[in-house]
Amino acid sequence: MAVERTLSIVKPDAVAKNVIGKIYSRFEDAGLRIVAARMVQLSRPEAEGFYAVHKERPFFNDLVEFMISGPVMVQVLEGENAIAKNRELMGATDPKKAEKGTIRADFADSIDANAVHGSDAPETAAVEIAYFFPSMQICVR
Ligand code: TYD
Repeated sequence: MAVERTLSIVKPDAVAKNVIGKIYSRFEDAGLRIVAARMVQLSRPEAEGFYAVHKERPFFNDLVEFMISGPVMVQVLEGENAIAKNRELMGATDPKKAEKGTIRADFADSIDANAVHGSDAPETAAVEIAYFFPSMQICVR
């Protein structure tokens, strides 16, 4: 299986709940390594740019509003099959539908305040990682 990198965001609701460490433990316990990380207060244009693929969706404005409502913790996770593994750890978009023991089942309140983001494919992972981290800021083992 290939070693991959994926972009993960601990969203404002989970940062406010003070569960960054608990969420990081889920990554580490699953064998994913944090190879870059920073806390960011996103500006509106930054959040709009990040979620540009959802521009036409009815929830876009609320999503942007939520993502700028407080600081987020952004990290690059590295490991075998990291993209799918992180999606598995996250659980379904709607925490009510998320499997027991997933991050969203345990820490999210609703589909719009759902604790974490994770890239969904190699192409989006590459774009999203570059959106937040110049390659020099990613640690190579
Ligand atoms: P999406 O990419 O479909 O989900 P995921 O985060 O699981 O990859 O949607 C991006 C975010 O948009 C999602 O995490 C929360 C928000 N969203 C809503 O607020 N309402 C919705 O009905 C959907 C589908 C998403």
